[in-house]
Amino acid sequence: MTTLSSAFDATQIDATAARLASAHPSDIIAEALTHFDGLTISFSGAEDVVLIDLAAREAEKLGKQFRVFTLDTGRLHPETLEFIQRVSNHYDVPIEAYHPQAKAVEDLVREKGLFSFRTDGHQECCGIRKVEPLGRALDGVEAYATGQRKDQSPGTRADIPVVQLDPGFGRADDPLVKFNPLANWSSAQVWQQIMAYGVPYNPLHDQGFKSIGCAPCTRATHPGEHERAGRWWWEEATQKECGLHSINLERSER
Ligand code: ADX
Ligand code: SF4
Repeated sequence: MTTLSSAFDATQIDATAARLASAHPSDIIAEALTHFDGLTISFSGAEDVVLIDLAAREAEKLGKQFRVFTLDTGRLHPETLEFIQRVSNHYDVPIEAYHPQAKAVEDLVREKGLFSFRTDGHQECCGIRKVEPLGRALDGVEAYATGQRKDQSPGTRADIPVVQLDPGFGRADDPLVKFNPLANWSSAQVWQQIMAYGVPYNPLHDQGFKSIGCAPCTRATHPGEHERAGRWWWEEATQKECGLHSINLERSER
């Protein structure tokens, strides 16, 4: 059990984010591991594998542990499921899969069919398949790390800090500390890291998929298209947050 450092208190978090704003992602992860041994990593099965790679290196140097979970929505591509297992084997780290509540999925599908998100918007399905399981994955957690980057979405992620508080999840008494160590990296930098260090990657990326989520809500993009153009392509860019990172919408509306 770690003690919450004042550097991550509500009064200090903005200053800490400013101090770490130009730090290398490895250094941000090292600081996260130092303060929060057992740091939780949220892994989607896409290029955010870089987070696990960096955490594995830093954890070994520091003698710290980390924990990884993934939200298995039931609608992921088979390639993504294979990849998640490959990453687990490669880094010799268990990847805890959180599944949606069966009853909630059954009710939704019986009432609205398998593709309600195409007519109703994706919030309801994402709420059941992603957000509720995320709440369980983060129950009691002090700090976690995501692979979010500013360049993923000019509309909603342009000003995500490298560390912030997310009062929507975690513990009842203290807000969850949320690290976004890759926030300031471009997609190109992520891919340089993957190639330079032989990091395993999802084979869908070789088929034109830049951003990968659930199969029915993800498609390959054409050269020159923004990476999130392939996610929920029937919706406005500003709606392309599924609730995992709803704090981004609050920030972008300020
Ligand atoms: S999403 O909100 O649009 O689905 P995105 O695919 O950009 O998110 O991923 C951003 C970060 O959110 C990932 O790096 C990861 O930390 C977290 N994330 C997204 N989807 C999942 C998932 N299925 N399981 C675990 N973490 C996820
Ligand atoms: Fe449902 Fe699509 Fe959201 Fe996956 S991304 S949870 S299939 S709406």
